[in-house]
Amino acid sequence: MPTVLVLNGPNLNLLGTREPSVYGAHTLADVEACCRSAAAAHRWTLDFRQSNHEGLLIDWIHEAGLGHADGSVAGVVFNAGAFTHTSVALHDAIKAVTVPVIEVHISNVHAREPFRHHSYLSPAAAGIVVGFGIDGYALAIEGLARRANPETTRT
Ligand code: DQA
Repeated sequence: MPTVLVLNGPNLNLLGTREPSVYGAHTLADVEACCRSAAAAHRWTLDFRQSNHEGLLIDWIHEAGLGHADGSVAGVVFNAGAFTHTSVALHDAIKAVTVPVIEVHISNVHAREPFRHHSYLSPAAAGIVVGFGIDGYALAIEGLARRANPETTRT
């Protein structure tokens, strides 16, 4: 059964207590539960991770690339947190692999401070889901599933 890898970047371990007016009251464990049921609906297993360290996130993208090459990883859903707006290295990591990466943001970054309007990930991502709260993770998994099954993909 293929795996969908969901990666979370810095400070997302604090969901639930971190700026609830922006990110809501749900915890990262709640996000994981949503992802688990969205993945199960497509007969995928879920691998759900969080790190505050950029290099580890890069290593995980490389690992997903190898997994995609051997057929074990269907795709990546990636909320890179603030690294979205700073990391050329994450851009390069995504470009270096063939696994589809869907960029997710809980908040609508375009309605927030100007420094959040630019994403280094977007030009490398297969798709982007922004501003749907934690539902965005499930929407991204749905998008990966449609992408993986051309009969359900509308372009
Ligand atoms: C975020 C938006 C980023 O700008 C911010 O740095 C985060 C969370 C979001 O999910 O809305 O950490 O990625």
